[in-house]
Amino acid sequence: MSKKKKMHLAQFLVHGPTYHSLAMWRHPQSDITQDKWSKPALYQHIARTCERGKFDMVFFADLNYISDTFRGSLEPALRYAVQAPEHDPVPLLSWMGAVTSHIGLGATFSVSHQHPFYLARLWATIDHLTGGRAAWNVVTSINHNQASNYGQEREATDMRYEKADEFIAVCQKLWNSWDADAVVMDRENAVFVDAAKVRRIDYEGRFYKSRGPLNVTRSPQNGPAILQAGTSPKGKKLAAKYADAIFAIQPRPEDAAAYRADIRSRMDANGRDPDCCKILFGMQPIIGSSEAEAREKQEFHNSLVPLDGGMAILSAHLDFDLSALSLDDAMATRDEPELQRMQTRFRKPSGESMTLREVAQRHGQSVGLPQFVGTPNSIADQMEAFIDIAGGDGFMLSPIYCPGAIEEFVDLVVPELQRRNLFRTDYSGVTQRDHLLQDD
Ligand SMILES: Cc1cc2nc3c(=O)[nH]c(=O)nc-3n(C[C@H](O)[C@H](O)[C@H](O)COP(=O)(O)O)c2cc1C
Repeated sequence: MSKKKKMHLAQFLVHGPTYHSLAMWRHPQSDITQDKWSKPALYQHIARTCERGKFDMVFFADLNYISDTFRGSLEPALRYAVQAPEHDPVPLLSWMGAVTSHIGLGATFSVSHQHPFYLARLWATIDHLTGGRAAWNVVTSINHNQASNYGQEREATDMRYEKADEFIAVCQKLWNSWDADAVVMDRENAVFVDAAKVRRIDYEGRFYKSRGPLNVTRSPQNGPAILQAGTSPKGKKLAAKYADAIFAIQPRPEDAAAYRADIRSRMDANGRDPDCCKILFGMQPIIGSSEAEAREKQEFHNSLVPLDGGMAILSAHLDFDLSALSLDDAMATRDEPELQRMQTRFRKPSGESMTLREVAQRHGQSVGLPQFVGTPNSIADQMEAFIDIAGGDGFMLSPIYCPGAIEEFVDLVVPELQRRNLFRTDYSGVTQRDHLLQDD
């Protein structure tokens, strides 16, 4: 049998009291009091823990709104902590970088409300501060709450991604406006920067203008690693063009395989080596010392998720008020345009449609990530089996309580994956891109 490629692992986080499980803040094993979830010490501990586990990265999802989509009210989102409150994650990357030396540090930043110059400057700075470990999840915003917070209208998918494409291209021009050897710091001849090695970009496009140059020197990775998580054809096109890694939620391994094959063929068509972009599938590990204990933990965790909370977070992510539908409606056969972008999250392993009640409950538990439940050995089996069908490349993990569930994965499952030669025992490089390209 041919040797398997090693997996890649990312830890999914949010700068708030609920990550992807609405049970998290209520769970007795979570250590996330008000004082803790909003302060750097927790995230520094998580970064150190994941670095001990040799993860590729820790990564923050982010939104810029409190949702009123469900029933037209802010109350469910506030009451059930539906990604609310959510503090800005980018400042945390510096705190986490200060206590670690290798692990990648990623965050989401939407391109829908800012100018490319600001984000090119911000991410080049983070890349400098962390010694080349920055990763930027380039998202476009689909939610009317977020658009309203910036005094804008929600944009159609095609427009969102045409702007995003130009946005990244402008950022790349700004990152390239400095040569790597521009800073000479010749004290004797009073030359700090060799001006011939820094250029304006004089960019005038369809959506953006920027003169440049950037006022930040070339960073270790020449800008951050680029992450993407689009699911529409336009989103996948953007990812195939620019991304170093893609996050995807595909609960069924057959759908994961189709998604991965689609991205890889798009990359091939663009003249990019498909192995240069890693596709990480979301999953929520629930670890027990026996299968029965793990099942009990799963049942208890899931019982802490209020159905209305699940309806609120699903409505927010679809930007569609689900209160008008019946809880017994089959979700995979509905034809509303807003309900099409999560189609693969609406089906059971058998392929049969889930009801709204089932989809909302799972969304509240894990935003649709499948739960991998069992002993460390059985979870490693499930991961291996999933990747065997999907074809690669790894997982992003979302905890059921914090930080304990992250520690358990690192201490119990990582050694089992390493024993099977399915995960690295050490980093071979230092930058975020180094880790994503390390396959053996
Ligand atoms: C795993 C995953 C993580 C995502 N994280 C975020 C996020 O943190 N912030 C955000 O605004 N959108 C996030 N999204 C939404 C995507 O960027 C995208 O808008 C969504 O999947 C719909 O796809 P489309 O934009 O191609 O229509 C995420 C999507 C996925 C699948």
